[in-house]
Amino acid sequence: MTTVAVILAAGLGTRMKSRLPKVLHPILGDPSLLWVLRALPPGLGGAVVVVHHGKEKVLAALEAWQKAGLLPCPVTTVDQGHPLGTGHALQACIPELDRLAASQVVILCGDVPLTSAATVGHLCAAKALLLAMDLPTPGSYGRVLQHSDGRLAGLVEAKDATPEQLAIQRVNGGAYALPWPALRKALLELTNDNAQKEYYLTDAVAAVAQEVPVTVEACAPEELAGMNSRQDQAMIQAAAQRRIQQSWMAEGVTFLHPDSTLIGPRVQLASDVLLEPGVRMEGAVWIGAGCRIGQGTVISDAVVGEDVQIRPYCVIELAQVGSGSAVGPFARLREGTDLAEGVHIGNFVETKKARLHRGAKANHLTYLGDTEIGEGTNIGAGVITCNYDGTQKHRTTIGRNVFVGSDTQLVAPVVIGDGAMIGAGATITKDVPADAIALSRSPQVNREGSASRFRSRQRREVGT
Ligand code: UD1
Ligand code: CA
Repeated sequence: MTTVAVILAAGLGTRMKSRLPKVLHPILGDPSLLWVLRALPPGLGGAVVVVHHGKEKVLAALEAWQKAGLLPCPVTTVDQGHPLGTGHALQACIPELDRLAASQVVILCGDVPLTSAATVGHLCAAKALLLAMDLPTPGSYGRVLQHSDGRLAGLVEAKDATPEQLAIQRVNGGAYALPWPALRKALLELTNDNAQKEYYLTDAVAAVAQEVPVTVEACAPEELAGMNSRQDQAMIQAAAQRRIQQSWMAEGVTFLHPDSTLIGPRVQLASDVLLEPGVRMEGAVWIGAGCRIGQGTVISDAVVGEDVQIRPYCVIELAQVGSGSAVGPFARLREGTDLAEGVHIGNFVETKKARLHRGAKANHLTYLGDTEIGEGTNIGAGVITCNYDGTQKHRTTIGRNVFVGSDTQLVAPVVIGDGAMIGAGATITKDVPADAIALSRSPQVNREGSASRFRSRQRREVGT
């Protein structure tokens, strides 16, 4: 048996009023479509994403996720052409599903991000199943008609429903598992004879239900909530936020202010992590045990070791922070920053492609780019690696136990040997050998009594 997932993602998403295709709108940093794909179980015969509106952007996103190893199975796409309804979307997939030798299909919507992996796994293991939800105000969802034994009897869209049918609270969640031969046959017989003049997938599902018994299961409404508007997006994000926080709290994580804290679905937190108000983490993030993450800090695609103190208002992206380090407040760790254990990065320090070895310190007002800094080295306040000559980037290599005095500019490429000292205010353009003291300031001149003479001259000039 080969089960193939079909994910519908060709619709325009008019109500989002956006340049971005609906399925790429994020929930806690990850696009809706990525949530759907990541919930698929391993071992599927593939996933087919139906695209059309905003196709280039969706294809580019799929390629990036594939490269990043985020997809659980091979994903192909089918361009539906001008979308004529959910049934039309499945008709467009017939050649691809035949090519993949599908015997079983699982259909999901790209704009329904919160269906859990457990629910999708259950769907993928079923023979003929429709996921429904029971809503007190069923609104514009399709209504589910059931036989007395619970089997699916039919599906009717709200726009085509009679007043009696509209009163039905069990609605179609748009997620189905069906045998491909029966569905394929039903798709070939679809018409668009309905209120919206669309080819409804629901009509094909109802036709399959005449041939094989289709089970109906109701799940938690949040699992099947569709994102059709910005209001839906906010509501779905709030539900995801609650779900993720509950699961981390159960693992020993403290949220000082859950409402203002946003933790994405690919973030991993160890026990005794404490998150201050307003923390946001997106992408692939690992935070080790005992870390405290300060108020207003934003972390994306980063690895933080154990017992790290990230003080308030830091921005950390594509970086690694070793155990026992302290960062911030107000520090920015950019791509390629790699801090070993016990490194101190203080306020108003920016790092990029910077490797700092164990115990190195840069505590104040510094830019460290394209650099390697040895163990135990101290970088004084206001030090700048001048890594860019207007055309190219160059490296600065600093040895162990070096002392770089405040307000020094290190004009790259330059190498500072182990144990060297650089006097404050230096402009270093040549390598400094190990154990040397480098000075590059102009000699200081003190003119005794000059200050008062200078001030009286100023006063005479302005006539006071
Ligand atoms: C659909 C169901 C409805 C169900 C609801 C659940 C039909 C006819 N109706 O309605 O019973 O309650 O989902 O959320 O299926 N899409 C395409 N190509 C198209 C049309 C849509 O790929 O031609 C995609 C959309 O991008 C979207 C998904 O299919 O991801 C659902 O389409 P949408 O128009 O939102 O269907 P609903 O009206 O919500
Ligand atoms: Ca929808």
